[in-house]
Amino acid sequence: MNNRKYHWHKVCESENDLKLEENGIGVVEINGKTVCVTRFKGEWYAFPQSCPHAGAPLSLGCIDAKGYVICPHHGYKFNIRNGKMAFDGGCILKTYPTEVRAEGVFIGFKKESFLSWL
Ligand code: FES
Repeated sequence: MNNRKYHWHKVCESENDLKLEENGIGVVEINGKTVCVTRFKGEWYAFPQSCPHAGAPLSLGCIDAKGYVICPHHGYKFNIRNGKMAFDGGCILKTYPTEVRAEGVFIGFKKESFLSWL
């Protein structure tokens, strides 16, 4: 991953601070955005709170055994690794990279660039 493409935001001092069980979904605020975080098979994943289909709060959904977040409103499933739907439904969930460092857990927001439309 090219770390220079992201603004990294520290969300807590350590993994234990998030107090999440495996497959649990927590919520953090970063620069006014509500972001969901989850731990799946020992890795951290992050995605927006708002479902790309119709805006339901994904923190009220759940993570299934294959690593999909299931939306609580209409049951659409989004892969937490790449945001793709379990079937071709035309919506994609944004995902954010995560890093666990000695100084804490970080979530990356892509830097905006005047070349980002390229
Ligand atoms: S609002 Fe999430 S699937 Fe419809």
